[in-house]
Amino acid sequence: MSMENDVPILEEIPDAVGFPYTVMPTGWFQVGWSHELKAGDVRALKYFKQQQVMYRGEDGQAVVMSAFCAHFGAHLAHGGRVEGCNIVCPYHGWTWGPDGRNIMAPSEGKASEARRRIKRYPTVETCGIIWVWHDALNRDPLWPAPKEERGGDKKYLPINEHTAYGWTNVTAQPQYVTENLVDIDHFIYVHKNTFISPQRSESDYPELDLDGPIAYVKAKPPRATAEAHGVGAMVVRVPEFPGKPWRFPAIVFSNTTPIDNEKSDMFGCVLVEQDMNAEGCEGDAPVGGALKRVEEQKLQQQADFEIWANMVYMRRPAYGRFEGKYFLKMRRWAEQFYPEAQAGAKAG
Ligand code: FES
Ligand SMILES: [Fe+2]
Repeated sequence: MSMENDVPILEEIPDAVGFPYTVMPTGWFQVGWSHELKAGDVRALKYFKQQQVMYRGEDGQAVVMSAFCAHFGAHLAHGGRVEGCNIVCPYHGWTWGPDGRNIMAPSEGKASEARRRIKRYPTVETCGIIWVWHDALNRDPLWPAPKEERGGDKKYLPINEHTAYGWTNVTAQPQYVTENLVDIDHFIYVHKNTFISPQRSESDYPELDLDGPIAYVKAKPPRATAEAHGVGAMVVRVPEFPGKPWRFPAIVFSNTTPIDNEKSDMFGCVLVEQDMNAEGCEGDAPVGGALKRVEEQKLQQQADFEIWANMVYMRRPAYGRFEGKYFLKMRRWAEQFYPEAQAGAKAG
């Protein structure tokens, strides 16, 4: 020990720091916005330590597949074009269908007989968000993507450049965001929450339902309830705030898609009804209380970034009273999304 007493310094605690997983997590992850991908658009993506091409067919379907043509490896998003519901490679004109199978090799006048196809990612769109399923073991989706929330009697503003936002190359892993849900103290210091008292009592902690791949986290009223759909997608329901009519209720998405073991892209959007008492309320852009809600959520989502970018991930934190119980539950729940954690559990 370096000190005269027997309390170790961080460097003396074995395995104290470092995110424990290197395999990219399993689940649904946001890769774009529906309003930013028009029919015929082709985009290059880099997620899950791999590269992808995303395009929208003329039939309206969004398609995400591995970036590289299975003929000679050209990147399909660099010069590739959409034809019908297919994508045509810029190198030798081979045409690939949305299922990743070859439709046409022009030099042969028909589909190639070479036994190759391109890996496709299951892709769905809900709430104006384009989701893909990622699984390092190539399993089919094990649970559905977050469901469409825009039906019913709510007249939410559209998801567009006014209600959606994002940040690229944020130094963080998706699980940091999920763990945030049970980090009560940080709501005070990072998010400037004034409703929680600085001294912790167990009644400040949320109710947790962690039985499946969707974690239900119910904060104490009148605060929000959250659903973590795996570690990549988070849906937060912000209620009406009693006595504070300017605090507009909303459904807020806060999604994190890993690029590699260091960086992630962060996406956020707000489903909110227009403030019909504010000037300019006839437009598509939020105004008044609706605008305040969007601006606040955008600020809150980025409030953690500087902490995450510069901290070390503590495998064995010096938990405060009650923290350990809730963090450990959350971390155990998250293990199901890392094939290597499960392999370890089976082995050991
Ligand atoms: S590399 Fe794509 S057609 Fe040859
Ligand atoms: Fe946070």
